[in-house]
Amino acid sequence: MDMLSHDVLIVGGGLAGLRCAVGLCDKYDVALISKVHPIRSHSIAAQGGINAALANNPDARDDTWEKHAFDTVKGSDYLADQDAVEIMCREAPEIVYEMEHWGCPFSRFPDGSIAQRPFGGAGYPRTCYSTDITGHVLLNTLYERAVFKGVKVYPEWHVTALATEDESCHGVIAFDLINGVIMPIRAKATLFATGGYGRVYFYSTNALINTGSGIGIAYKAGVPVKDMEFVQFHPTCLIGTNILMTEACRGEGGYLFNNRGERFMERYAPKAMELAPRDIVSRSIQTEINEGRGFDHPLGRYIRLDLRHLGGKKILERLPGIRKICIDFIGIDPVNEPIPIMPCQHYSMGGIDTDAAGATPVRGFYAAGECACVSVHGANRLGGNSLLDTIVFGKLAAGSIDAYLSGGGAVPDEKAVLRLAGDMEKKISGLVSGGKEKTFALHAELARTMSANVGIFRRQDEMEQALQDIARVRERYRGAGVSSPSRHMNYELMNAIELEYMLEVAHTIALGALLREESRGAHSRRDFTKRDDEKWLKHTIARRGADGSPDTSFRGVAITRYQPMERVY
Ligand code: FUM
Repeated sequence: MDMLSHDVLIVGGGLAGLRCAVGLCDKYDVALISKVHPIRSHSIAAQGGINAALANNPDARDDTWEKHAFDTVKGSDYLADQDAVEIMCREAPEIVYEMEHWGCPFSRFPDGSIAQRPFGGAGYPRTCYSTDITGHVLLNTLYERAVFKGVKVYPEWHVTALATEDESCHGVIAFDLINGVIMPIRAKATLFATGGYGRVYFYSTNALINTGSGIGIAYKAGVPVKDMEFVQFHPTCLIGTNILMTEACRGEGGYLFNNRGERFMERYAPKAMELAPRDIVSRSIQTEINEGRGFDHPLGRYIRLDLRHLGGKKILERLPGIRKICIDFIGIDPVNEPIPIMPCQHYSMGGIDTDAAGATPVRGFYAAGECACVSVHGANRLGGNSLLDTIVFGKLAAGSIDAYLSGGGAVPDEKAVLRLAGDMEKKISGLVSGGKEKTFALHAELARTMSANVGIFRRQDEMEQALQDIARVRERYRGAGVSSPSRHMNYELMNAIELEYMLEVAHTIALGALLREESRGAHSRRDFTKRDDEKWLKHTIARRGADGSPDTSFRGVAITRYQPMERVY
């Protein structure tokens, strides 16, 4: 069997992966694998902006990275590791200026400085943006830089397994979708920047590629995952489509109304109103809907996001993409009509357990971006901190990998990689000649139970139901088979491979949520309604046990300067 070999292998073509590649490619032979063309990575979908205390806005001249750190810690419901949050917020201005100098076309204030808008849970308007396509411009800027610097890209290659033995990583097994061949790839260091797991849920803003399989692959290979129970639900997703209606709609002054014409956020967050953090706004919207104050629609109940008072000029200038999406997908022009929205899954706070420089407990294996849990978002991420996280920790992971390789690193074991490639060949043959169960149907069953039973509000019996459903789907997965034996661009085959990892991911989410008997941030239990710092101010760590189910342990939270207090907005 052929084998490729690189110094550094980066899996994932979004912002975290590209920033890491750009940081290493002058010194090392770096290759980047992406299951789609890199500029179709999900970072492209980020709309509203990237946080940094630049103090550009006339209303924010005294903003500082410390205030940004405080807002982030409070937003996280005190579960974020404060040493890591301090690193991220201190790095933020430099990261934004670096992207500007590399050509990123940010929107501007009249004096030419980078424009900043208010976002939820933030004491100052510190979200730097480019209208409502901030992820798009950042991704194109970094991709151009990676191409210019000669990073080797394998587009439409799908990583199917991670080769780990003796607590060290030796490379990956990839499936070249175009040629339909399995390719073992040996590497001295491997970074996963594979994004979140939104598609484990039925209602999600995430792209179809966001299966979380990177997290599941690492977990199956023995890498621990952290805080998987913390799942973010974005408050404003377009009814019937789940397309993100950026928080910038509210940052620019949009209102939320129920069917009585009330700006109901007054009841839940009287000071911050629509700009409370996402966990609070999502719960408030869901409560209004559950208690009969939503609007009816054939596709479900909804709340109104009203931008009309902003006026056409501002909407066209600041939110042109939102207007176009509303017109194209549901025939509503937000200049004249309110937008029907509902909350749905948006972000994974949990992920692969890393330190603040992307290192995992497995030697030579790193992770950054949404697939990683540093943890800087704790129990609830603030809007605008995700783009920041990807670029900051992509850059820091490059430094960490450089230090590892400069210190000698390790020689990857070719046999470990080849053995795993053999296993993957068998797995594919099994699926091709396999049984009658169709993985798209199994996936839908998994996603439905996760949305129904491990959602915004949670209760013991519902989460137990989810765990039973996951076990049943796992059993049926043994009889899965694909319709076509073709290996060329066979997405059914790729999805079938991914589903195994999605089941692992879902299991850790549901089990972590069941075990955590408190409410904190986005984890809101009807049967344990209060935050319990005495018992639960700790991270959940899950490792795959010998019998295949998660072995769970806990780790304390790093507290530097912000003692936990009640969150009031
Ligand atoms: O609402 C948004 O524009 C999303 C931003 C984010 O998730 O950080």
